[in-house]
Amino acid sequence: MARYRDIANELFEQIDKKVLCAGDRLPSIRAATRRHRVNPGTVIRAYRELEARGLIESRPRSGYFVRPPAERQLSQPTRFKAVPRSVAVQVIDLVFEVFETTKRATPVIQFGAPFMNPELFPLAQVNRAGAAAARRLVSSPIVQDLSPGSAELRRLIALRYLSSGCVVSPDELVITCGAFEAIALSLRVVTRPGDTVAIETPSFYAILQTIQQIGLNVAEIATDPATGVDLNALEHALKTGSIKACVVMPSFQNPVGSCMPDERRKVLAGLAERYKVPVIEDDVYAELHFGAHRPRPVKAFDRSGWVLHCGSFSKSLAPGYRIGWAAAGRFTRALWQQKVISSFNTAPICQETLVGFLRRGGFERHLRQLRRSLSARCREMLRAVSAEFPTNCRMSRPDGGYMLWIELPQSVDVMQLHRRALAAGVSIAPGPMFSARRGYRNCLRLSFGYASTAQIREGIHTLGRLVRSASMEGVARKRERRRTAASSKR
Ligand SMILES: Cc1ncc(COP(=O)(O)O)c(C=O)c1O
Repeated sequence: MARYRDIANELFEQIDKKVLCAGDRLPSIRAATRRHRVNPGTVIRAYRELEARGLIESRPRSGYFVRPPAERQLSQPTRFKAVPRSVAVQVIDLVFEVFETTKRATPVIQFGAPFMNPELFPLAQVNRAGAAAARRLVSSPIVQDLSPGSAELRRLIALRYLSSGCVVSPDELVITCGAFEAIALSLRVVTRPGDTVAIETPSFYAILQTIQQIGLNVAEIATDPATGVDLNALEHALKTGSIKACVVMPSFQNPVGSCMPDERRKVLAGLAERYKVPVIEDDVYAELHFGAHRPRPVKAFDRSGWVLHCGSFSKSLAPGYRIGWAAAGRFTRALWQQKVISSFNTAPICQETLVGFLRRGGFERHLRQLRRSLSARCREMLRAVSAEFPTNCRMSRPDGGYMLWIELPQSVDVMQLHRRALAAGVSIAPGPMFSARRGYRNCLRLSFGYASTAQIREGIHTLGRLVRSASMEGVARKRERRRTAASSKR
């Protein structure tokens, strides 16, 4: 190992174990040079490395000082690399195993749940709209013939598209049982079992499960933790001609929280058109933006109907009502037929409830409040993780949604951490759930959509302690292996 790294690691351990505390001055370059018997350039390189990690700062003519934890921010995760080879997905068993272990442990602090806290939704108002809908439905035909969904609900959804800069006709919309069904139907319409689908890595486990169940293979495409799927890598894969569809989540991706910039969304829509490959756009978190504007859907740049846009009210208004939709472009008719074949229609009472609520007004006000709550929880979680986790961890910085991704030191086994965290009353979502090949064994997804800010502080404190001890055990194991290897050589 390079000498400068040895020096940086030694100092890192001292800061991490609080031997060196906030405000302490590091040894001068000259003193460190003498102590480590290296040249000054090596020490300067080590100090710069710690500075880049946000651990120390240089003060003009005074030297280098340890920064206070509250001012530190962990670095972004490294770019997610992928081998875009077609592979079979194997996650269903693992996902259920994690669900069941979590359920048995009944954790008090939920960072693993994919759901938000019900308190964040105006459920009393929605339920009142539900009661009124029930009265209306008694006097009208409950099941309409082979309908793609309530005409009025589709009109109201089309109006919401307009406000995000996207023109979608109500006739292009099929109402589904959540976005989940919209995505599953889209996949069934545009692929055949055995086909290969391009996906981001890491990807939401429920989509991986659907892909596995349909019998599709995946090509994982490299992804940037801030800006989403790498379009050059995607184009490279598309050029081979073996990709039959892409599934992407450009807005506040689950599990990372990345958000694709507008100009790249336009490029993505262009790729779909050029290679005539359908893009399934999972956009369930788009309304949960912390900035001033909702990101424009890729669908807004789609000129020839290759984008199937899937959305729902599950994350923005009414999780239990299971109302989603697909704006399926050139595949609309095929998708509607698939919907009729698989479940006939979506519960009319739920559709009518949302019509009643949306007509009454108040959705925008609720969304503003929801975004404020999530943004505050996100800030709290980012601050707590930066302060409590070892400084060689990395974390994403979402600008919307309610998930963030953490990369732990390589030596930490996240499945073991998951079990220890549950025993301490905290749930997490381990990284291997988000990978076709059960990779990301040192990563995890944390949700800030369920716990209160006080629980976030407490839960992250507990997790930080567990991560530190797992990391130290990992380092000790590595040292032991090295010692054994060295003694067996002798
Ligand atoms: C990324 C992503 N897509 C789709 C869904 C499914 O949404 P719905 O509840 O509307 O079916 C979820 C739900 O957790 C999700 O996180």
